[in-house]
Amino acid sequence: MTTHRIALIPGDGIGTEVVPAACRVLKRAGSRHGIDWDFEEFDWSCERYTREGSMMPEDGLEQLGAHDAILLGAVGYPGVPDHVSLWGLLIPIRRAFRQYVNLRPIRVFQGVPSPVRDAHPGEVDFVVVRENVEGEYGEIGGRLNRGFPDEMAVQESVFTRAGVTRVAEYAFGLAERRRGRLTSATKSNGIVHTMPFWDEIVAEVAAGHDKVAWDQEHIDALAAKFVLDPSRFDVVVASNLFGDILSDLAAAVAGSIGIAPSANLNPERAYPSMFEPVHGSAPDIAGRGIANPVGAIWSAALMLDHLGHPEAAEDITSALTAALASADVLTPDLGGTASTDEFTDHLLGLLDEA
Ligand code: NAI
Ligand code: MG
Repeated sequence: MTTHRIALIPGDGIGTEVVPAACRVLKRAGSRHGIDWDFEEFDWSCERYTREGSMMPEDGLEQLGAHDAILLGAVGYPGVPDHVSLWGLLIPIRRAFRQYVNLRPIRVFQGVPSPVRDAHPGEVDFVVVRENVEGEYGEIGGRLNRGFPDEMAVQESVFTRAGVTRVAEYAFGLAERRRGRLTSATKSNGIVHTMPFWDEIVAEVAAGHDKVAWDQEHIDALAAKFVLDPSRFDVVVASNLFGDILSDLAAAVAGSIGIAPSANLNPERAYPSMFEPVHGSAPDIAGRGIANPVGAIWSAALMLDHLGHPEAAEDITSALTAALASADVLTPDLGGTASTDEFTDHLLGLLDEA
């Protein structure tokens, strides 16, 4: 029996509904594969912020550091500005734990119609690898002459050789374990310093991975291809801003925000990695027990894979694929009438059959 210590941060709104569903699935998958879970729950959230003035306690990162991984639901609460939850919790975790890879798998499933005509189930299956700690989201810059006609703002992008190399290495390694194709997102025609630097380093890394067929595309053309021909992609590597936008576009191509998972990875495993569905706290449906738990459950499967249990992770994604395809037990966002618990029960039944 292996035991993993997991920090649970359900957060706000439907985060508190989908994380328990994911834990039920982890327990069932664990009992089939000899994995034991030691879950510790934290109430860090925007609700806590309104009560106590901070998203997490001062020693929050220290507390998390003792765990093997973090499973997060969603944070966001009416009245609390988004930048509070982002800079008070998510970004400190990503940066302190050097989670420099943000991984977003995208699949078109049978049972989840894509808004894109030629996005067929089984054909669209790719991963966006987003650089997660530097690039365009730097803190260097400032504002001058506030309130005057010559008011100005400057924000610096920061691309380091180490930072680009490690995310490119991760992406090429992932492509080797998948279908051996990689696309690098660039804009070296318009952004004349950082993007040619990105391109040069990606080409250097590519030279060490001769089994991967790769190309680079300007971000504008790439965005169009995500819509026009999504099945051509396997692994897409991108800077922080480009990856952020591309991964939401890709999630939209996949048909529903409720199913999209993500992982914030420290590939060296020196620090805990964090797994979270892409969706937010959905205040419009929170408290009704109808949230789609697929994004959270798929994120939990990514966690299992990262913790060294690819077979257990594969069991979960196969059961998810079957559950979505069977169409009789789906949550309302996918056109069904099932509650979060009913869908999860159905999924647990399919896991037992696997
Ligand atoms: P959202 O993702 O919470 O909701 C967008 C729409 O999708 C809503 O109509 C919602 O009901 C629906 N939806 C989302 N997830 C669903 C699920 N699992 N099942 C069924 N329907 C689902 O995005 P929104 O409304 O822009 O943001 C709400 C709050 O969440 C805000 O406070 C925002 O800051 C926060 N947020 C937090 C994120 C995070 O924790 N990483 C990410 C995105 C938003
Ligand atoms: Mg985003």
